[in-house]
Amino acid sequence: MNYDCKDIGLAPKGKDRILWADDRMPVLRTIRDRFEKEKPLTGIRIGACLHVTTETANLMRTLKAGGGEVSLCASNPLSTQDDVTASLIADFQIPVFAITGEDHDTYYQHIHSVLDANPQITMDDGADLVSTLHSSRENVLEQVFGGTEETTTGVIRLRSMEKEGVLGYPIIAVNDALTKHLFDNRYGTGQSTVDGILRATNILLAGSNVVVGGYGWCGRGVAMRASGMGAHVIILEVDPIKALEAVMDGFRVMPVAEAAEIGDVFVTLTGNIAILRQEHFEKMKDGAIVANSGHFNVELDLEVLEKIATKKKRIRHQVDQYTLPSGKRINVLGEGRLINLAAAEGHPASVMDMSFANQALATEFLVKHHGSLKKEVIKMPEHIDREIATLKLATMGYNIDTLTDQQTRYLASWDQGT
Ligand code: ADE
Repeated sequence: MNYDCKDIGLAPKGKDRILWADDRMPVLRTIRDRFEKEKPLTGIRIGACLHVTTETANLMRTLKAGGGEVSLCASNPLSTQDDVTASLIADFQIPVFAITGEDHDTYYQHIHSVLDANPQITMDDGADLVSTLHSSRENVLEQVFGGTEETTTGVIRLRSMEKEGVLGYPIIAVNDALTKHLFDNRYGTGQSTVDGILRATNILLAGSNVVVGGYGWCGRGVAMRASGMGAHVIILEVDPIKALEAVMDGFRVMPVAEAAEIGDVFVTLTGNIAILRQEHFEKMKDGAIVANSGHFNVELDLEVLEKIATKKKRIRHQVDQYTLPSGKRINVLGEGRLINLAAAEGHPASVMDMSFANQALATEFLVKHHGSLKKEVIKMPEHIDREIATLKLATMGYNIDTLTDQQTRYLASWDQGT
């Protein structure tokens, strides 16, 4: 078996942590038990490019239990948990190509290693696997009949490919399932981003000004959790509807140029480029903390910070302190890469349970239905979304009501008014 990992000796620690996460992923486990019996993915080659975490390990186990032949690489150079890579290889015989801190070339070599296994289904988080496949591996592309995409940024890239007419096969936008983005993006990113900032810095959030760039589901989550810990939250938005929502949720909203002067902590989650730039760094308070929790490391203009800084020092694990000509110091966390995975462990298992239940069921759906799907970005089937919510509620011990016949008839009628 081909693989590339940091240290295979880390496997025992990785296995313990994978099983710890598994205890918190009952929906995925239920699917795994069924896959074990029904083998719906028998012989299907699946190439995955995901954050290599304990939660991802349990998804890989599930696909393998279903009969899939899986290989995995990282979707970010800093998010790999090396003990998990080791355990997937040694304990679960799944080929993984991922080393934390890998450079740009190794990151892409690892993507190519997954493509060398000739996948028929791609499973991506951010669309680097899909874009590499389309731009440089046409012979592999011919055999691929379907894919899934985990995150908002990836879905946006795929929609651009679809619009340009270059998308080579149908890809299910797992991110757009309600049981994914309403929970993972909001509660997962909310908690894990705060977790990453605190693990990197050990600052007190209470009483500090936390500037959150972007009020999508991820930004909402971070704002909610930082506020819950006593921070004064300021939102940056370009969309008037989202900005208005932030105002009515009780947050201050202002342009980045104003927020730059008063923020103690900045975190970007916009999915866009160069949110914090030279003119903002120069206005910041001495000691300001700057982080990104968006998918790519493009939201902070670190190139310009490198250029204008008179000094750069790694002052703590995952904290680079830049000194500006004015003498002010700006602390950048996790090299501007997603801080929840660079400095913490990503979203907790119990929320990834739903995201990865979606991934597993989307894969099964593709195997069954790919012949009738167009080369487009596909919506997650609604019945799967509802099935996952129902299962999750049940595993959490919650029961809910069902409509009575009278209520069902009423909802279908138009003639009953006041
Ligand atoms: N994305 C965010 N958190 C994650 C996790 N724990 N595992 C895989 N992907 C993630």
